Amino acid sequence: MKIAVFVSGRGSNLNAILNFPDLKKIIEIIAVVSDKIDCKAFDIAREFGIQTFTIGDGEGKIAQNKITSTLKKLDVNFIVLAGYLKLIPTELIEKFENRIINIHPALLPSFGGKGMYGLNVHRAVFNSSAKVSGATIHMVDKTYDTGKIVDQKCVDISDVKTPEEIAERVLIIEHELLPFVIEKIALGKIFVDKFRVRVET
Ligand code: GRF
Repeated sequence: MKIAVFVSGRGSNLNAILNFPDLKKIIEIIAVVSDKIDCKAFDIAREFGIQTFTIGDGEGKIAQNKITSTLKKLDVNFIVLAGYLKLIPTELIEKFENRIINIHPALLPSFGGKGMYGLNVHRAVFNSSAKVSGATIHMVDKTYDTGKIVDQKCVDISDVKTPEEIAERVLIIEHELLPFVIEKIALGKIFVDKFRVRVET
């Protein structure tokens, strides 16, 4: 399975995928794509010899309407959004139906939607007085965080004192959940039904 990973920042999830034992036997990350001209995730990509692309207007960038053809040329068959902050062009969503996943640092369908990224999510969870949070992997559709849920993992936050502490705990499980789900997808163990996504054990 040839994957493009979309990022906007630090790239710790990209790093977790690249370092997950044995995953490289069944997947190849062929491109790392960002809305930024440079970001920490690009450094990780370069370390692993993966080509990087920036979406946008201007020299050295790929225009929104060219991204689908660029990925097709690279033979990409799956897209993983790992901390990508922009909406995905509609054409790309249509061409890659049920072949784009996103990782969200909370338990959807709560704490999602526009503006719910980074510490904003963890602040909302903290202020809600919830005792658990977690990570969600979902299919990407045309709006933020509304696609079918593929898998989720919870973490106990009953004793946290700050939103930052929630972020730390959730990030640990993100790094477990995302490579796990990618492995399942690559092995053909994920089935998208009308209302639900089934993950075969
Ligand atoms: C993660 O918390 C992810 O869930 C969210 O953005 C963050 C990206 O972190 N969508 P990183 O760039 O993978 O370190």
